[in-house]
Amino acid sequence: MRLEGKVALVTGFGSGIGRSTAVIFAREGAKIIGLSRSGSSGEETARLVREAGSEALFVPTDIRKLGDVEAALAKGLEAFGRLDIAVNSAGVRVAGIATDLSEEDWDTALDTNLKGAFLVGRAAIPQMRLVGGGSIINISAASGFHGTKGRVAYSTSKGALNNFTEAMALDYAGENIRVNCICPGPTETPMMGTVTDEVRAAMSERVPMGAIPQPEDIAEAAVFLASDAAHFITGAILAVDGGSHLAPSVHGRHFESSTQTRTP
Ligand SMILES: NC(=O)c1ccc[n+]([C@@H]2O[C@H](COP(=O)([O-])OP(=O)(O)OC[C@H]3O[C@@H](n4cnc5c(N)ncnc54)[C@H](OP(=O)(O)O)[C@@H]3O)[C@@H](O)[C@H]2O)c1
Repeated sequence: MRLEGKVALVTGFGSGIGRSTAVIFAREGAKIIGLSRSGSSGEETARLVREAGSEALFVPTDIRKLGDVEAALAKGLEAFGRLDIAVNSAGVRVAGIATDLSEEDWDTALDTNLKGAFLVGRAAIPQMRLVGGGSIINISAASGFHGTKGRVAYSTSKGALNNFTEAMALDYAGENIRVNCICPGPTETPMMGTVTDEVRAAMSERVPMGAIPQPEDIAEAAVFLASDAAHFITGAILAVDGGSHLAPSVHGRHFESSTQTRTP
């Protein structure tokens, strides 16, 4: 098992990529501290982690709030005694051009997708120092590579998350704390929304590898970055998108899902 004896904090625990990451990390031997807001989905992921043969502590948490993040980590440390890995998967997709977005829309995107990773990283690093190192993995997006048409807040948050990753990687490299980033393309999770078979086929055709990634595909990359096999990798911005970031786009310089979602 690649993560035997490790403790991982995973945000976005209740759904999609966060849920898959928690379950696959559990199969690899990690104990999981899970952070998301909804009680029912968080408890369901915790059940799946236990079914996968490990232990989970779900702590309902709004990762935009410093107090929530610090309290959740304290509970996790009380339960499992150490922290080796943090995966920042919590995110929201906010669609719209600047003149259509409210201040609240903007704050929701930036606070969740960027500030949340800062708050978690800031809380996690002192604990990683205590165990001689660690691995932080930020889940960004294809939109982190270039501005994306029609998603100014989302792509701003993800572009900044990529720079945040690189700056953090440099700041903590000397302490054996690695900070990397995964940029998924459109991935089949609740965030992608419901798509018809026709839309799925059209989306798949535009992915050079011919299929839409599943959350497990992203989680497997996270296992690698969290594991000792990646011990010399820091500051990487890793596209896990079947080659989509290289493909021409109908929306902008690269392809994103054609579904439109807005946060409340
Ligand atoms: N799916 C895609 O097509 C795609 C593509 C590129 C990048 N990504 C990125 O991948 C990451 C995971 O996305 P996903 O597809 O797994 O989405 P998802 O299925 O919608 O899951 C998002 C998770 O984030 C949690 N969350 C949202 N706001 C939060 C907050 N303020 N505090 C704590 N938790 C919060 C949600 O739980 P609660 O609402 O219960 O808190 C949920 O568990 C995101 O950062 C997303 O931007 C996804």
